Amino acid sequence: MDEAWARIERAEAAPLAQLFAAEPDRLQRLVVEQAGIRFDFAKTHLHRGLLAAFEQLAAAQDLAGAREALFSGAIVNPTEGRAAEHSAERGQGAPDSVERAKALHARMRALVDAIEGGAFGPVRHILHIGIGGSALGPDFLIDALARGSGRYEAAVVSNVDAAALEEAVSGFDPQTTLLAIASKTFTTVETMLNARSAIAWMSEGGVADPYGRIVALTASPERAIAFGVDETRILPFPESVGGRYSLWSAIGFPAALALGWDAYESLLEGAAAMDRHFRYAPLAENAPVLAAFADRYYANVRRCETRAVFAYDERLRLLPAYLQQLEMESNGKSVKLDGSPAGRATAPITWGGVGTDAQHAVFQLLHQGTHLVPVEFVAAIEPGHSYEEEHHRQLLINCFAQGAALMAGKSSGDPHRNYAGDRPSTTILLDRVDPATLGALIAFYEHRTFANAVLLGINPFDQFGVELGKQIAKATDAGEDLGFDPSTQALIARALGDS
Ligand code: F6P
Repeated sequence: MDEAWARIERAEAAPLAQLFAAEPDRLQRLVVEQAGIRFDFAKTHLHRGLLAAFEQLAAAQDLAGAREALFSGAIVNPTEGRAAEHSAERGQGAPDSVERAKALHARMRALVDAIEGGAFGPVRHILHIGIGGSALGPDFLIDALARGSGRYEAAVVSNVDAAALEEAVSGFDPQTTLLAIASKTFTTVETMLNARSAIAWMSEGGVADPYGRIVALTASPERAIAFGVDETRILPFPESVGGRYSLWSAIGFPAALALGWDAYESLLEGAAAMDRHFRYAPLAENAPVLAAFADRYYANVRRCETRAVFAYDERLRLLPAYLQQLEMESNGKSVKLDGSPAGRATAPITWGGVGTDAQHAVFQLLHQGTHLVPVEFVAAIEPGHSYEEEHHRQLLINCFAQGAALMAGKSSGDPHRNYAGDRPSTTILLDRVDPATLGALIAFYEHRTFANAVLLGINPFDQFGVELGKQIAKATDAGEDLGFDPSTQALIARALGDS
């Protein structure tokens, strides 16, 4: 492995323009078309020599074996003794797990059908309460695909700041609201508190049996029962499906309701198409793997501390937030699987926004700042509105122009007007934003995250880093004296007094 890294670090760092001149087949080799998506890595610094070195690293790290272990349901999350079976939810995994996922999906569908059939009386609003992986996926899907669908009005509430809940329910009628409580553990403080406040809102709104309008989405059904949810309205999912990988399981229930079951199935099928690509395509033609090679190159050789993702499509505006959890909670680690230091930078900081807005706000730094930031553009060929075509033409022209400008730069005798260029970007171009394509896109990001982890030798499936803050908050809440530093003590005294 060290030999492969040495080769990667030694590889020639030729400018992009030179690479295009030296490698006329760059587009054939560095553009992958899969599942209705064009992944263009040609404007990254990956070149033949580097790719060969990364393939050597992938062989040293047994990426092919790790990939098979993932899909076969082996324990790929050893610190928690678990498999990571999100792909089984879309039909790619250990046969028993695929069967179990099918059965759980059938149960989920039956509940969708029952709601549509009027078993809950008239339902017009869905209030989904969860946080992290129990909120970001459904929120992204509903925002991208169900806006204006006319099926249900859905709101996802995550923050413990009840201003979020207050705003979400302001246009909802408690009598026609269905409450989905999403929590893998069914213990998360924010979710439980928001759920209780939502139930109180229903009661105050005259709902005689608010518990009868709750659907629980969880891997801990016994805790949901203890909370007061009837077993028939609990949609379970397996422990082996991680929180940030869970939108394919019961956690996707509000999206299935808001989009309709057929659309939800196409989402799963799109993801399955990407699973097959990641599982069977040779590494050098494999979109998630090529993306991971580029990620590693920029983080470990060029020492880039961040990567930026810009959605040039309003429907995908929540993509950066979704990716922040997926990438940073998965790979924001400092130790390898065996507990030894990672020895090199792991996940960069993922950030981003929407184009073209971001061009008028943060792109200055991308073009002329002192930080090198690999940029990812995500766009779709078909527009998501019925206004004149000029809007979408301008959107795409701007997207492509930014990638070209970052790479080409422009020399000027005036240093203030000089653009160094040679700044890398990846473009991900969707044929359209529909459930199947979005499923494939999200699965691409999951597998890219996994491939990065394997190259680094880290575990992408645990998240112990989030625990310490939770424990301290809990102990403080319980009135324990933790001997805080003077700054924290003064803040608590000033804002919370003796409460
Ligand atoms: O705090 C981190 C985390 O554990 C995430 O990994 C998870 O998605 C989120 O909290 C919510 O957890 P739960 O689904 O158990 O409520």
